[in-house]
Formats: sequence, C-alpha cells, structure tokens
Amino acid sequence: MSKTVELARHLETLHINNMYKTDFYWTWDKTDEEIDAVFTVADALRDLRERNKNTKVFNSGLGISIFRDNSTRTRFSFASACNLLGLEEQVLDEKKSQIAHGETVRETANMVSFMADVIGIRDDMFIGEGHKYQKTFMDALEEGYRDGILEQRPTLVNLQCDVDHPTQALADILTLMENTKKPLSKCKLVFCGDTRNNVAYCLMYICAKLGIHYVGWGPKELAPAADVVEYCREVGKETGAVVEYGEDKELLKGADALYTDIWASMGEEDKIPERVKLLTPFKVTGEVLKATENPDCIFLHCLPSFHDFDTTMAASQKELGYDIREVTDEVFLSPNSKVFDEA
Ligand code: NVA
Repeated sequence: MSKTVELARHLETLHINNMYKTDFYWTWDKTDEEIDAVFTVADALRDLRERNKNTKVFNSGLGISIFRDNSTRTRFSFASACNLLGLEEQVLDEKKSQIAHGETVRETANMVSFMADVIGIRDDMFIGEGHKYQKTFMDALEEGYRDGILEQRPTLVNLQCDVDHPTQALADILTLMENTKKPLSKCKLVFCGDTRNNVAYCLMYICAKLGIHYVGWGPKELAPAADVVEYCREVGKETGAVVEYGEDKELLKGADALYTDIWASMGEEDKIPERVKLLTPFKVTGEVLKATENPDCIFLHCLPSFHDFDTTMAASQKELGYDIREVTDEVFLSPNSKVFDEA
C-alpha cells in the first residue's frame, strides 16, 4: 500500500467535515483533528510529488493572493500550493487594480472571485486590527454568494495578520516533526525574544493544542498577554502541554527547537531603539543554543532574519548604533538551523 493510500485512510478516521468550505482565519479555531488533517494532506502531497504523481485537485480556477505587506516565503509557498493543486495564482496588486481608483472592497472582492477557489490574504499593517480586512473581504463574498453574484464562495487562508500566522506555525510544527525522533508530547519549543508577537502567539497555541511544551523566553516588558497565556494553558490541560514564559536561562534546558523572529515586526520599525535595548539579552547565540544542553536542538525562524549586517536595514541601523541581529550567523548558518526547510 502506498504511503498516500495509508494517509488517505487515516484522513477518513478524522472528524473534519467542518473544514470543507470554511475559512482558515485563526490557528486557535482549529481542532486537533483538523490540524492533524492538514499535516496528513501535506504528507500525502509530498509523497505524490516525490513519486512524480499527479497532485492536481482542480482542472481550472484561480487562487488569489493579496499581500498588503511584504512577503517572500509565504508568497512563494502560496503560489506553489496553488500550482500543486491545479489552480493558477493571480496576485491582486491594489495599486494596479481599480482599488487605486476608489473601487470598494465589496466590489473588488466580487469582481475578482468568480473563478476563485481560494483567497490568501496578508494584512498586518495596522497593529491591533487583527483580521479585520480579511473579514471585510470575505463578508463581501458571503453576501455576493448569497445574492447570486457568485456561483461559488472561495475559501480564505490567513497568510498572516498582526496576531496570527497559521501557515507559518503549521509548517514549523511539520519541520519539528520531521527533525525529532520523539512524539510531539515529549518535545519542547522555546520562542526567544518578543514573546507577544504574532508568530509567538500562534506557536504558543499550536504547541498547547498538540501537547508540546512551550516556553516564551523574553523580557518581562514583552511578556505575552495574560488572557492569551491563560487560554493556552486551559488548552494544555487537555493535551498535557506546559505553557510557560520568563527571562530565566534555565528555561532553555532540554529544548528540541529554538525559535526567534525579528525584534520589530513589520509596521513597528519606530520601536527599534527600545527593542534592541530590551531584546539584546535574548539574542540567539551559540551560547544560547548550548544552554539547551541538546546537541540536536534545531533552530527555526519565520524569516526575514537579521543575522548579519548585509541587509540595508541591519546596516543602516548599525550606523545609528543599533545591532538589530536577533540571531548570530553562528546559529543561523549552523547544521542545527532548519530555516530553509520550513516553507
Ligand atoms: N513578526 C513578523 C513575522 C514575519 C513573517 C512580522 O509580523 O513582521
């Protein structure tokens, strides 16, 4: 029996009917069986591709991507995913579309979606807005479908907002699974740095959901919000996951994965001076990696990363007296680093 057939049989045992024709707004909306289904389908697609078998689910149709902020990895992953499934990717560039002439979100959403099966949106420009734009877009499509303008209603995939980054977190856990020989319930993931940013939050949740010991190692000034921690701890009660955070280096001990992110997320560039001061003690260095006492501990990063001064951003900040590297080359380029496998 091929691996894909085995995986398909496993899928049949999962309660995932609610996933069909529903959106992927939040990582924390998904049940553990739904997360399991995503991993299972990913494994099956990989198996098919490795054996040069057809992976296409669609004969025609569009996957529309709207990136209202920069992206490299997610942009290409979305394009590859559409292609793998048989959809053509079309990028909605707001500056080049009629949006620039004042067309409303409602009109645009309905106009572009008549052949679309999936819409991926990244919108994290306004801190505190969450998935507001994504929701406005999809509500317009819901209405369009209800009013008979659209024959079908495409599905949304959140390609990052200011509090969540589901596709990243799912790919991260897959990478952890591929690199550790242990069950997830015996794994420990430590997020180093700004422990209340979008990537830290979705990792905290997915770890809690899958029984992975989660640690946020960062300064108290950037500690995760109490209600988010409490929610994840509640989830952890069912799965056995420990969820903790703090400044103590002891927390690094026994980690299977160290994770970090840039210190000032997109849209927070004015906070660099303050962040450098707070986060320099939590930079991922060779010494931090050693403090895990696990030679097989992997290093993960959602990218982009500042690990040297070759980028214009890191170089210009250095001129101003700020070393914004959240990780050193010693770790980023080490064999422990799986940053390019994470896509
Ligand atoms: N926290 C980062 C993640 C980048 C993938 C940001 O929001 O800019």
